[in-house]
Amino acid sequence: MSKILIMDHPLIQHKLSILRDVNTGSKEFRALISEIATLICYEATRDLPLEDVEVETPICVTKTKVLAGKKLAVVPILRAGLGMVDGMLALVPSARVGHIGLYRDPDTLMPVEYYCKLPADIEEREVFVVDPMLATGGSAIDAITQIKKRGPKHIKFLGIIAAPEGLEALKKAHPDVDIFVASLDEKLNDHGYIVPGLGDAGDRIFGTK
Ligand code: PRP
Ligand code: URA
Repeated sequence: MSKILIMDHPLIQHKLSILRDVNTGSKEFRALISEIATLICYEATRDLPLEDVEVETPICVTKTKVLAGKKLAVVPILRAGLGMVDGMLALVPSARVGHIGLYRDPDTLMPVEYYCKLPADIEEREVFVVDPMLATGGSAIDAITQIKKRGPKHIKFLGIIAAPEGLEALKKAHPDVDIFVASLDEKLNDHGYIVPGLGDAGDRIFGTK
């Protein structure tokens, strides 16, 4: 049974409010995307396996735990997913990073793939697909379909804002994928933008509009 978590931590809600504000500039927007990604990553890594080790403290020898060395990969959906990578790597610095390039055709809203480079040993890894926006769900569904062809161990999707339509579509297309987002917004508008949302995440991260 896959997990769907809408993160309602006060720090996330506070940062998200600044992110949504039309007056927040690219520099602050990038920093906030990265910080929220770190907070979501913290929760999405809760089930990483541990193993027992012995450590000598200044006082005595004790049994304690370390990560069992599960192999991880972070795969941002270009462009906006790139904004979440550093925040993820802050917590899992040895993860490999793959890239999937997709853009939504503005007329059909269907994803168009233009790039895919994944770690060679992805079948041995748990994959975190990251993209701040889950709108119709088309981009996430397509990216995960591409990644599944390479047979990774397990996939989690980490986003920041989801529309109900996108969440439902992703759940239906990939019921085995765990989904972590910071907010479930109201709806999509006629242009496929999330309402209230934050506008075009890629343009706001990279200052292209
Ligand atoms: C945005 C966003 C997602 C996608 C979500 O990317 O970063 O990838 O839209 O929409 P969907 O759920 O309806 O597919 P966009 O296509 O604008 O490309 P960009 O990141 O290069 O700007
Ligand atoms: N992509 C974005 O960047 N924002 C939206 O609201 C929907 C898709």
